[in-house]
Amino acid sequence: MIEQEKIEEIKRQTDIVDVIGRYVQLKKLGKNYRGLCPFHSEKNPSFYVNPEKGIYYCFGCKKGGNAINFLMEYEKLDFPDAIKRLAKNLGIEIDTTKGLRYKELYEANELACQFYAQCLSKDIGRRGQEYLTRRSIKLDKLQDFRLGYAPASGGLTTFMRQKGVSPARLQQAGLVSTNRELFRDRLIFPIFNLSGRIIGFGGRGIDDYIQPKYLNSPETPIFKKGEGLYGLYQSKEQIRSTGEVLLVEGYFDLLSIYQYGFDNICAPLGTSLTEQQALLLSRFARKGIILFDGDLSGIKAALRAIGLLIDAQVDVFVTLLPEDSDPDTYINAHGADALHELIRGAVDFFHFYRGVVKTDTVAQEISLIKDLIQIIGKIKDPIRYDRYLKHAAHVFDIPVDTIQREIDGRPKAPKQPVQTTRISQEEELMAMVLNGHEHIALVKKYLKPGDLVEDGIKRLYKKLLKAENFDITDLSEIVDEALRERLLAGIMRGEPVSRDGILGAIKKYKGQVMEQRLIKKQNEAYKRGDEAAGEQYSKELLALKRELLNINAEETAGEEE
Ligand code: UTP
Ligand code: MN
Repeated sequence: MIEQEKIEEIKRQTDIVDVIGRYVQLKKLGKNYRGLCPFHSEKNPSFYVNPEKGIYYCFGCKKGGNAINFLMEYEKLDFPDAIKRLAKNLGIEIDTTKGLRYKELYEANELACQFYAQCLSKDIGRRGQEYLTRRSIKLDKLQDFRLGYAPASGGLTTFMRQKGVSPARLQQAGLVSTNRELFRDRLIFPIFNLSGRIIGFGGRGIDDYIQPKYLNSPETPIFKKGEGLYGLYQSKEQIRSTGEVLLVEGYFDLLSIYQYGFDNICAPLGTSLTEQQALLLSRFARKGIILFDGDLSGIKAALRAIGLLIDAQVDVFVTLLPEDSDPDTYINAHGADALHELIRGAVDFFHFYRGVVKTDTVAQEISLIKDLIQIIGKIKDPIRYDRYLKHAAHVFDIPVDTIQREIDGRPKAPKQPVQTTRISQEEELMAMVLNGHEHIALVKKYLKPGDLVEDGIKRLYKKLLKAENFDITDLSEIVDEALRERLLAGIMRGEPVSRDGILGAIKKYKGQVMEQRLIKKQNEAYKRGDEAAGEQYSKELLALKRELLNINAEETAGEEE
């Protein structure tokens, strides 16, 4: 674990505008900064950053938090890695591997990667070297991928024993199965997560007759095939800065063209694209260009990927390679310029879909139209939605209104998210308490947990009273996601809180919300003829009034001291 003190120091020194400003163009607006939300697509900025409070909040998609939350969400980092990133920006040194949950597995993978890389560079790796040469792969352009070779004779277990890693651990990491090393006489592709740690491996058999041709690590606690993307770690900065990603099918396709400078690229991990992978991509790219084989399975895979990417709000274009070639064979046969040309000619998903789906009958045509309309209906960006809608209307000669009706009664242009988040009075009060945390002693004096009725708020308040220093990062551990969002909305909207301000809020809460609550209960009691309960509520009301008077008296007295 990273020491708590270090974390506090990093939090103190971090300037949230600086952190978020690296990813989002922010403009100063009063005490806040504002920009286009990086977490959902929007035309009008509803993403706010408040440097004073160190938080951000989007009134559109309701995501919010502090600089740590931002990095976790945006960069998909875990907590220690987010802290590490902030520390790096600040020039503070920490060792976060200590805090990793599956540290042993990451370490085993890292060592295995070193072993395979060493083998590839030595005599024992000659078969690997020759194979790479045969396939025109130049390692010097691909250092970041840390390729390796697993010798036919094995050796990983011995190497690991010398490093103090037990066979049991290797088994856990998926590198050994029933006392046999998984990868033998294979070229090794380490698979990285977004923090650059190795989570698993892919291995290609050196001889073409070897089955399976590609062998991947089994799923382990740190390796989930449907979640990661090959090459994303190495490409993500390029993808982010261009806003575009090239999607290819295989490891070799990726490496083969990456070395020619196609460096905004990734590939699924031995399966077809998943929803999670599409969402992951959408964090980095606005536009995706699918670059798949031109055969039937490539077309099918492309159609599937289109749906998922559009769902994730990525604009999709498709380039199909000529049949019998993939990006790897294509670039080796025709060169990088030809591939560039091909990519430049990528067509949008609409034209692609229309081009490849058979429509020999009216029924087939109707089904195609419906499929396309359904996909268009998923586009949230108003401008893109509108363009595709009009285009579809034109191409199929169908009135826009008819199409729109087909898209489930969807209104003409999708509305921009409303700028209000409705929050209860109790939540409003708690947002204020969080906002003016320096007045907690005063709050404690006049507001008891029993005064609150909402479960989450009550729990939070109890924690707040106990904690020495409370940070909004901790919110997610105490309250559910929806409440956390509402509180952040309240905090973001709130002005800096003065002593009087917070007292006023407590008085208002007691004098209005609590009083109304009691009056309502009292009325109900009398209505059902429960005199005793009615009396009880009267007493409580009286006590409440007295308490309010007390607060007034004490506080004016306090001020005169
Ligand atoms: P392909 O069969 O298209 O192979 O598989 P490829 O990428 O052209 O590979 P080379 O050029 O013959 O070396 C595409 C991807 O599907 C996965 C791998 O991720 C591969 O890169 N795959 C394929 C497997 O996971 N296992 C297999 O047995 C085959
Ligand atoms: Mn290939």
